[in-house]
Amino acid sequence: MNISFFQSLFRVMGKSIYRVYPFILVVICFSIMVFGCADTSNKEKSDTSQGEKVDSSEKKIKIGFSMASLREERWQKDRDIFIREAEKLGAEVIVQSANADAVKQNEQAENMITQGVDVLVVIPSDSVAASQIVKAAHAEGIKVIAYDRLIRESDPDLYISFDNEEVGYLQAEYLLRHQPKGNYFLLGGDPGDNNAHLLRKGQLRALQTAIESEDIKLVADGKHWAVAWEAKDALNKTEQILTQTNNQIDAVVASNDGTAGGVIQALEGQNLAGKVLVSGQDADIEACQRIAKGTQTMTVFKPIDLIATVAAHAAVALAKGEEVAKATQMVNNGKVDVQSIILKSIQVDKDNLDKVIIEGGFHTREKVYQSK
Ligand code: BGC
Repeated sequence: MNISFFQSLFRVMGKSIYRVYPFILVVICFSIMVFGCADTSNKEKSDTSQGEKVDSSEKKIKIGFSMASLREERWQKDRDIFIREAEKLGAEVIVQSANADAVKQNEQAENMITQGVDVLVVIPSDSVAASQIVKAAHAEGIKVIAYDRLIRESDPDLYISFDNEEVGYLQAEYLLRHQPKGNYFLLGGDPGDNNAHLLRKGQLRALQTAIESEDIKLVADGKHWAVAWEAKDALNKTEQILTQTNNQIDAVVASNDGTAGGVIQALEGQNLAGKVLVSGQDADIEACQRIAKGTQTMTVFKPIDLIATVAAHAAVALAKGEEVAKATQMVNNGKVDVQSIILKSIQVDKDNLDKVIIEGGFHTREKVYQSK
């Protein structure tokens, strides 16, 4: 199991245990639920070198992992950890990445169905277009897990993600706490990604009172989105906003680290980097370096180890026709309530960067501080 993750977590806690206590509780509960229930079959087992049990009497389970893209650093981690964990359980993983093209993703998924996968794990490029994948898979009796991003207008068998509305809340809440007045620019993620809307919802929830009291003002009506989560689009849109407002921006609620990179590049062009607060999420190495340098204010760390491990166990369980976890929550996708596993995330700034990111083993000190 994910012991190193828990070890790092407990090291990270230090004196501030009370602050991360609810987070730990949830992580532990999920782990017990998922790992405790993932495999209840009585078939013959054999040990692997990692101490996991795998069926020796059955044919190898084939998992199709359909990824929207591999552009952001996190997805490469998701892929590698997912494969490692699935292989520990004796499964084989076929990975396809669609380069943020929803049509291509549907074709790739069809192809994996034809190749005879036992279960599909999908990170949808477009939350609605991917409903076709669910339909095509179900027509062949193949179960589908929506990974990190919800699939809408269909009935996926399981959704595993972080609380994305909470991620948005954590981003805006942090900025507001440090910049309680001024002009805010809300830059959403890709509008085709359900997470982008959840993030926006959480951000607005955090800012609502300050908007109503006119302590802060949303520039451009808070309606901007970075298409395909592109840093380039984030750069262009921030440049436009800086021009329109004559550089009168106090905080940018960027929805992830990739787009925060584009925002900060635009700010650098006006000599404003480090003066305007900028949020993010994913704890990408470049974002952590920017936090260390002071040009990015914060990020939201989501334990990729955990989501990928939970998903690998769930995929194998579903492929075997087993229950994944009995006590999960339900998330409505516009059509049905989808059985879900929702994980917690954590705010990271320069004060807890070392503890959470470095001592937690996510990135090395050398890389974060770009030292030898
Ligand atoms: C994920 C983020 C990621 C973004 C862009 C979102 O759905 O939750 O972690 O940065 O997509 O890939």
